[in-house]
Amino acid sequence: MIYLDNSATTKPNPQVLDSFTKASTGFFGNASSIHGIGMDAERLLRKSREQAASLLEVNPNEIIFTSGGTEGNNLAIKGIALEHQNRGKHIITSAIEHPSVIETCQGLEALGFEVTYLDVDESGLVDIDNLKKEMREDTILVSIMHVNNEIGTIQPIKEIGEVVQSYPKAFFHVDHVQGYGKVPLNIQASHVDLCTISGHKIHGLKGTGVLYVKQTVKLFSLAHGGGQERRIRSGTENVAGIVSLVKAMRLAKEKQSELHKKLTNLKHTLMEQLQTLNRVVINTPKFASAPHIVNFSVRGLKPEVVIHALEDFEIFISTKSACSSKSADESAVLIACGKDRDIAISGLRVSMSYETTKEEVDYFFQKLTEVIKKLSEVMG
Ligand SMILES: Cc1ncc(COP(=O)(O)O)c(C=O)c1O
Repeated sequence: MIYLDNSATTKPNPQVLDSFTKASTGFFGNASSIHGIGMDAERLLRKSREQAASLLEVNPNEIIFTSGGTEGNNLAIKGIALEHQNRGKHIITSAIEHPSVIETCQGLEALGFEVTYLDVDESGLVDIDNLKKEMREDTILVSIMHVNNEIGTIQPIKEIGEVVQSYPKAFFHVDHVQGYGKVPLNIQASHVDLCTISGHKIHGLKGTGVLYVKQTVKLFSLAHGGGQERRIRSGTENVAGIVSLVKAMRLAKEKQSELHKKLTNLKHTLMEQLQTLNRVVINTPKFASAPHIVNFSVRGLKPEVVIHALEDFEIFISTKSACSSKSADESAVLIACGKDRDIAISGLRVSMSYETTKEEVDYFFQKLTEVIKKLSEVMG
């Protein structure tokens, strides 16, 4: 099997699974219980929080453990909007955010908030001057992703943070789900107030994640109850999930620079190979893009057909994110980047991990070439 859909999800690292099993058998207590078993769980939770904070170079009380990227993005955006609506009701995001950001913003529009969706250029980049133009006195939040999940564009987070910082009423949220472990981000130096990370994208388990919330930032809770996680996210903590998440975060960070080199080489090799194919148009920008994602379109061929044909060789890739576009077969991201409709409806995404090898990439390219040739003959 050649698994090249690591932006959708990753295979859990065996060490992560091991840490989950150990924590869930040895530390099953409720971290809020005052007896010894609860206190053991609480100690482990505290240690995990300290480790997560140290990996992100922030303070332990700035770590809110969540169930993943969708929850983190919802909590950050709705939490700011609902808590700070007296300051203003204007939010800025980009046209190519993940649906968990775009649809959250649309939900807030229905509640009376005003949202500006920044255009991007052909590489998927937000324009800083355009952001400056759109910032207003009543802007309370700017939410911009670090790495785009479909085409891999890396946004200039530090520059954006500097703009937002000059508006004291506005907070800055970064969806770092596709960036963590692949593209470094300095949360503090980039003036980030809120930052979302998801466990299952970094060889951790599904249902685990972190939302960084700067100490001074208040959020309206979306889950009231026992007051866990700074009263921002009530509910009995998933201690074993949290331990496994921190393990995944640590492993990803340790491998980061080596992985960056390896994946960058594989990405360039694949992009050079793809350029030799007639019908193929590469959508991932050559510069300012993450090392693990290569998005391309095969003109005239339906992406599902290509995906299923590759599956016959046990190769797994994907197309655009589910529900990310108004038109069922079109990628909203590719449209926002100004691509023609025939390119926007035929986008395919290869996403690699530390397990991906050069042999796998070469085999994928060989089979893709055969598939395109065969399908082109059938379809004319
Ligand atoms: C950029 C980005 N943000 C958020 C999410 C949602 O994360 P989760 O699947 O952990 O809810 C994803 C998942 O694909 C993503 O790629």
